[in-house]
Amino acid sequence: MSDIQKDNLTAEDVALSINGHFIKAPQSMSVIQALWHNGYPRVKGVGCLDGVCGSCRVMVRRSNSSELKMALGCQVLVEENMDVFFLSFSAPSHHSYDLSEINTSWDVQTQFHEIFPEAEKCRHCHGCNQACPKDIDVELGIDLAVKGRFRESGELFVECVMCNLCMTGCPEFIDPNHVGLFSRRVTGYFHTRPSNLINRLEAIRMGELDVSIEDDEQLQS
Ligand code: SF4
Ligand code: SF4
Ligand code: FES
Repeated sequence: MSDIQKDNLTAEDVALSINGHFIKAPQSMSVIQALWHNGYPRVKGVGCLDGVCGSCRVMVRRSNSSELKMALGCQVLVEENMDVFFLSFSAPSHHSYDLSEINTSWDVQTQFHEIFPEAEKCRHCHGCNQACPKDIDVELGIDLAVKGRFRESGELFVECVMCNLCMTGCPEFIDPNHVGLFSRRVTGYFHTRPSNLINRLEAIRMGELDVSIEDDEQLQS
C-alpha cells in the first residue's frame, strides 16, 4: 500500500484488499459492508447478510500468514492488510434421488451407496473440514453415513448453509454437503413417531378415544 493511500486512513480505519481493490473501512465492518462503503455495489454472491444463506463465499488471507481460509463474507470483519477474494461458482450436485422410491428404512443404506458411490472412497484428507466456514466435522459426517448411521450424520450437518465450499474442496467428488442433506432427509422421512403418540392416534381412528377441542374462551379460563 502506498504512503498516500495510508495517509487517507482515519484512526479507526483499516486498509485491505478485496478482489484486488484497495479498500479502507472501519474495523466494525464485514468485508461486504467494506466493499459497499468504498462504492463497489456488489450484489452477486450476497444474500441474507446473516450467515445463513451460504451465498457470500470468500477466500481470506490474513496479514503475516500464507494460509488461505474459506469463510462467509458477511461474517468476516475487515482486518489490516487482509486479502479477500469473493468466490462465484455454481456447483450443481451430480447426485439425484427420490425418497419415495426407497421402500423401507431397511433399504436406505443400500440406496445410499448406489446414490453416493464415491462416499466410501473418502481419503480422509480433511479438505472438507478445512473448507467449512461453519466448522462442521464434515469428514466424520461422511464416515457415519457410509456406516449407515444417518441420524448421527445428519445431526452434524444441522448448521450447514449449503455454501458448497466442502464440495469444491473434495478430490473424490463426494458432494459432502449433499450426503449431509440426504442423511437429514432420510432421518426425517423414515422417522418412527413415538409409540404412545401412535397408540393414541390409532385409538382415535378406531373411535375408542373421544377427543373434544374446547373453544378458546374455555381454554383461557
Ligand atoms: S458442510 Fe459444506 S456446504 Fe455445509 S456449511 Fe460446511 S462447507 Fe458449506
Ligand atoms: S474432502 Fe472429500 S475425500 Fe477429503 S475428507 Fe472430505 S469427503 Fe473425504
Ligand atoms: S450473505 Fe448469506 S451467508 Fe453471507
